[in-house]
Amino acid sequence: MTQASDQDRVLIFDTTLRDGEQSPGATMTHAEKLEIAALLDEMGVDIIEAGFPIASEGDFQAVSEIAKQSKNSVICGLARASTNDINRAWEAVKHAGQPRIHTFIGTSPLHRDITKLSQDEMADKINVTVGHARNLCGDVQWSPMDATRTEHDYLCRVVEIAIKAGATTINIPDTVGYTAPSESADLIRMLLERVPGADEIIFATHCHNDLGMATANALAAVGAGARQIECTINGLGERAGNTALEEVVMALKVRNDIMPYRTGIDTRLIMKASRLVATVSGFPVQFNKAIVGKNAFAHESGIHQDGMLKNAETFEIMRPEDIGLTATSLVMGKHSGRAALRSKLKDLGFEIADNQLNDVFVRFKELADRKKEVYDDDLVALMRVGEDAANDRLQIKRLHVVCGTDGPQSAELTMLIDGVEHKTQSTGDGPVDATFNAVKQLFPHHARLQLYQVHAVTEGTDAQATVSVRMEEDGRIVTGQSADTDTVVASAKAYVNALNRLLVRRARTAPGEDKREVSYKDVS
Ligand code: KIV
Ligand code: ZN
Repeated sequence: MTQASDQDRVLIFDTTLRDGEQSPGATMTHAEKLEIAALLDEMGVDIIEAGFPIASEGDFQAVSEIAKQSKNSVICGLARASTNDINRAWEAVKHAGQPRIHTFIGTSPLHRDITKLSQDEMADKINVTVGHARNLCGDVQWSPMDATRTEHDYLCRVVEIAIKAGATTINIPDTVGYTAPSESADLIRMLLERVPGADEIIFATHCHNDLGMATANALAAVGAGARQIECTINGLGERAGNTALEEVVMALKVRNDIMPYRTGIDTRLIMKASRLVATVSGFPVQFNKAIVGKNAFAHESGIHQDGMLKNAETFEIMRPEDIGLTATSLVMGKHSGRAALRSKLKDLGFEIADNQLNDVFVRFKELADRKKEVYDDDLVALMRVGEDAANDRLQIKRLHVVCGTDGPQSAELTMLIDGVEHKTQSTGDGPVDATFNAVKQLFPHHARLQLYQVHAVTEGTDAQATVSVRMEEDGRIVTGQSADTDTVVASAKAYVNALNRLLVRRARTAPGEDKREVSYKDVS
């Protein structure tokens, strides 16, 4: 790639759609994956790891479509060290203007034990599989999984073999989030010094956050010579997640004095990407998360506010606008018109077509009638959670709940199921439980509720609540979301939203089939 010759340029490899999506419960729909990929492409992400094509037909289709739609980014598909996996990955990414195959094998003693391969047998396998990938594609990335727990001599040996077999990028994964910054840097330095041909390829760093050091480890690796950072939006990923894209990108921008490297990311799209990924994955961003947390730019204490008014630099090391955060201003009230709404939505990163505007405007008016002050965050929630789609099989028509100290709490619910009206009444342990029981009476199912979360979108007792639910049925995991000024109504809609998604999944797959046939942790 052209950037490789530029010594200060660090490539950003986003794996939200592969490593991020493998986080249990973060499963995204096909359309959502395409939407995220389009935004990553627009942001200037150099390489998008779009999925693991052999894992399921859904993964394969998503990677192929992303490859077809990509404009600037390299599109990468993951494959284990097997010719079948590699062929499948190639079939999916070959449509891209710039395709990449990423193949890997666990090289640490623990992984060699599982695969029952001797050091020599594994070395042969790496030679054959990387060579096979290179025959198909000019851009091949190879990863020794669990590299940070692999013996140095063996790591040098297999990295050399992969380079000789044609790998153009060597990724060094800290698969279990075990390393620390000085060790992360030493490892890259050691490989650059000892491996013949190391100066002709790009070293990548891929860190997990189990000890909270993923960002520090990735930046330390860059300081030692790595020129590709693998990361995800919001740090999404299994367990404690991966290196967060927004953290490494902003750290390199803000502390360019001590880390003189640049990325090609348009940082003004960071907030939009963060909101999109949080919504579709159902993994909300913690309030005090660096860069994209709700409190990251909030200055609550009197001293801070005073300082901020005099000079924003007193307590702010970056400007909210740098990440696309417009000031949390009072946006509009019920008298605002369509043009104002459209222009405000554009500022917030939502371009809407004329036919969509009418629908959004109706919902905005309904909200403005119930809530005196409509803020930016209210509009974002309105846009992201949407309403029941007209083609949803289950829709809430009316909900009346009785709650308070003198139980039992009860819910009277009218729902449309495939267009036919059904009514019921139910009690429960609180109004939300009563409501969910009522939904279950009208639409019996055995999906298990795994997560129920409520967030206030803005401040004040009239704030909208965003509710996320995650459910599991026969291995299919779905998330649902909704927002409303009435928390119980938002809960009912989020629950029904998840059930509608489950119905789509059921129609697509037999029980169990929806689960990936293989995971990247399965040995080949
Ligand atoms: O963490 C890891 O080792 C991975 C590899 C597949 C690169 O995600
Ligand atoms: Zn990983």
